[in-house]
Amino acid sequence: MEKKFHITTFGCQMNEHDSETLAGMLLEKGYTQAKERKDANIVIFNTCSIRENADKRFFGTLGQLKKKKMAEKENFTVCVCGCMMQQQHIIDTIKEKYPWVDVIFGTHNLHELPVLLDNLYKEKHKQLSVWEDGGEIVEGLPAERLFKHKAFVNIMYGCNNFCTYCIVPYTRGRERSRKPEDIIREIRALVADGVKEVTLLGQNVNSYKGVSEADGSQCDFADLIYQINDIEGLERIRFMTSHPKDLSDKLIQAYRDCKKLCHYFHLPVQAGSSKVLKEMNRRYTREAYLELVRKLREVDPDIAISTDIIVGFPGETEEEFEETLTLCEEVRYDSAFTFLYSIRKGTPAAKYENQVPEDIKHERFNRLVDAINRISAEKNAEYVGRIEKVLVDGPSKTNSKTYGGRTETFKLVNFKGSPEMIGQIVDVKIIASNTFSLEGEVV
Ligand code: SAH
Ligand code: SF4
Ligand code: F3S
Repeated sequence: MEKKFHITTFGCQMNEHDSETLAGMLLEKGYTQAKERKDANIVIFNTCSIRENADKRFFGTLGQLKKKKMAEKENFTVCVCGCMMQQQHIIDTIKEKYPWVDVIFGTHNLHELPVLLDNLYKEKHKQLSVWEDGGEIVEGLPAERLFKHKAFVNIMYGCNNFCTYCIVPYTRGRERSRKPEDIIREIRALVADGVKEVTLLGQNVNSYKGVSEADGSQCDFADLIYQINDIEGLERIRFMTSHPKDLSDKLIQAYRDCKKLCHYFHLPVQAGSSKVLKEMNRRYTREAYLELVRKLREVDPDIAISTDIIVGFPGETEEEFEETLTLCEEVRYDSAFTFLYSIRKGTPAAKYENQVPEDIKHERFNRLVDAINRISAEKNAEYVGRIEKVLVDGPSKTNSKTYGGRTETFKLVNFKGSPEMIGQIVDVKIIASNTFSLEGEVV
């Protein structure tokens, strides 16, 4: 029987890229990829634990498959993996409420999927393999990218920061950096395969600490950027995510020197109050954060800045929340991801007693989103009349004549395009602006 898989991904770019690796490995084994879940006989869920609604969405979708699994038995395979599987209470729930799931694996051993599937079919019993922590970094895994012209590249895994609200250090383990040579080799191969833009991935790229294979020398994140900037044929470098406490002057300087570094910086602030930041264990103050923004804009006046913000962290007062609002007015973010604080079992903040009531959280959240959207719209309006370099991704889902792409500043631009533009960098004149996108004409 033909083996046709489908992967559903929840969560961040890290997970998206892991799913590309899963797909790459299965395609290499001769499996085929189904466009839609209903056409697949192997269904994989790559899960995220960051907030409660991510958990809920996963269990909701998983539950819908029970009927099909009961009807088709061994002709239909259900695999679950990702961050949720690194938590024992989740594995217990799956065993108890979804005992028909065939394969469970975690974030540290995704390279085992092909073997786990082989074992499942040979041994005819369920496979559970979750590693508690990351071992040696596995190099050389294939990846099936979504776009021919752009790629994610992991530079490090894990996180050591233990922000008090966050589950990631528990689901992704301690920080491990890849060797600079391995990263450079991978990017060169990607460029040879048509890639123009790479997004370097890590939970905290600023604490990248690579050790060179050749001479044992240390390579920090800024050093790595300079090396990648020298790769011929590559046009754009992006990265995420940066932790403000580790953002060095050396990296800021790289914006002056490295032409391929896009004029865009995602710098999660989380809160505008130094007291809340302290309770979040972020290890920077409001003032220190604002100083980083000032330095970035001094070196690169055109830089777009985006952020992540949590509303309603335990104990957040009205005054402290207003400090988040005033910080947003001061920075004037190009865009921001805003989140309602969500209790994560096993994190320190989950045990704090002064949780903010839901109605207050929502009311603050709405006020914040209004401010963020207003500022985004004003920032976007400044683009009207400018000519921007846009890397073209492809036609929009709803209109085949409308093409979409990104400026260096990561603004989404829609314009009338044609298939041969896909993967090219074209000059687009911006003629109108919206809150979340720009409209333009190719010049
Ligand atoms: N490593 C990145 C972020 C990873 S998680 C960083 O440090 O910036 C992405 C975002 O999810 C975080 O920036 C934070 O804003 C949000 N987040 C994490 N845990 C959360 C929680 N318990 N409740 C609400 N939002 C959360
Ligand atoms: Fe979570 Fe903080 Fe690590 Fe980011 S830096 S992944 S928010 S613990
Ligand atoms: Fe979610 Fe894991 Fe990413 S918890 S946000 S998928 S690192």
